[in-house]
Amino acid sequence: MINVAVIGTGAMGRHHVRIYSELENVNLVAISDLDEINGKKLAEKHSCKFYADFKAMLDTEEIDAVSVVVPTKFHTSVALYCANKGKHILLEKPIADKVKDAEEIISACKKNNVLLLVGHIERFNPAITELKRQIDSGTLGKITSIISKRVGLFPSRIKDADVVVDLAVHDIDIFNYLLKSTPEKVNSNLGNALIDDRPDYANILLKYDGTSAFIEVNWTTPVKIRTLSITGTKGYAELNYITQELVIYETNLEKEFDSFGDFIIKFGEAEHKNIEITKSEPLKNELMHFIDCIGTGAIPKVTGEDALEALKVCLIVTGDKN
Ligand SMILES: NC(=O)c1ccc[n+]([C@@H]2O[C@H](COP(=O)([O-])OP(=O)(O)OC[C@H]3O[C@@H](n4cnc5c(N)ncnc54)[C@H](O)[C@@H]3O)[C@@H](O)[C@H]2O)c1
Repeated sequence: MINVAVIGTGAMGRHHVRIYSELENVNLVAISDLDEINGKKLAEKHSCKFYADFKAMLDTEEIDAVSVVVPTKFHTSVALYCANKGKHILLEKPIADKVKDAEEIISACKKNNVLLLVGHIERFNPAITELKRQIDSGTLGKITSIISKRVGLFPSRIKDADVVVDLAVHDIDIFNYLLKSTPEKVNSNLGNALIDDRPDYANILLKYDGTSAFIEVNWTTPVKIRTLSITGTKGYAELNYITQELVIYETNLEKEFDSFGDFIIKFGEAEHKNIEITKSEPLKNELMHFIDCIGTGAIPKVTGEDALEALKVCLIVTGDKN
């Protein structure tokens, strides 16, 4: 049984709490949040202890592992404290908002011999797991182009992160993961449409070795869309992160057509396979993986170094030299 605690139980942290409380090999000992009213209610609901001060929680309770789900600007101070207390850490994405801080977190975890998993949740989406399997087995051939779209309205609770570090970081990490490399070149257009203090839209063009990749992120499109399209020399794939659907089109050599009706029949609905995916909650898969890694000593699927690579690209896009 692994004793866990959650630090930060807002919009995302409360889901960590819910899932830990449902896992069989986990004992959710306590949670901590600065918001005592909601924190106490949540603790009561899940039959665990509540602390307003996470340091007091770590000093008092027997805890093996923590989820750190505080706003990004507090990731470094909270994660360093937990690492120095010898706690295994699931740190929400992005790892930090500065390269130097991310490096410090990674080295503190190594020094204290604690596991660090960064919450790049899309790695645990079963549609991505299947797409990765298809790519690695050569179904699509050599990947020449990847396009992702992650758009929707601004979540007003986000006070610190911009749209690049909050949203595009997911896509950059997935591209690095699928292509097993990092971009050689980064270009972007970004700006402010509906909020004043940070970019709320960005179009990012990345050049990998032999692959061109494009990301559209924003907090302005009035509908939530999370999609990925991949073109390879042998096929084309479309993935929907929300519905966990994956469709694969095999390359079809151009056909002749005799009339417009014939054109619609031959090209209107290309031959494709709807790949069967057993849908599951990505966050639950992520938390189960974290607990498994603690038990087995396995290297987590998303390391601190992976998360640092994604952060570096975000900071190039936003022109942040830190
Ligand atoms: N993986 C994902 O898809 C995903 C989705 C949403 C958020 N996140 C990440 O989760 C983190 C939190 O985001 P959110 O949307 O839940 O924010 P939020 O503002 O809703 O919640 C953050 C909570 O942390 C608490 N907090 C702040 N400082 C604290 C401290 N010192 N001790 C204890 N509690 C403290 C706040 O009171 C608040 O309740 C961010 O890093 C964000 O990037 C990840």
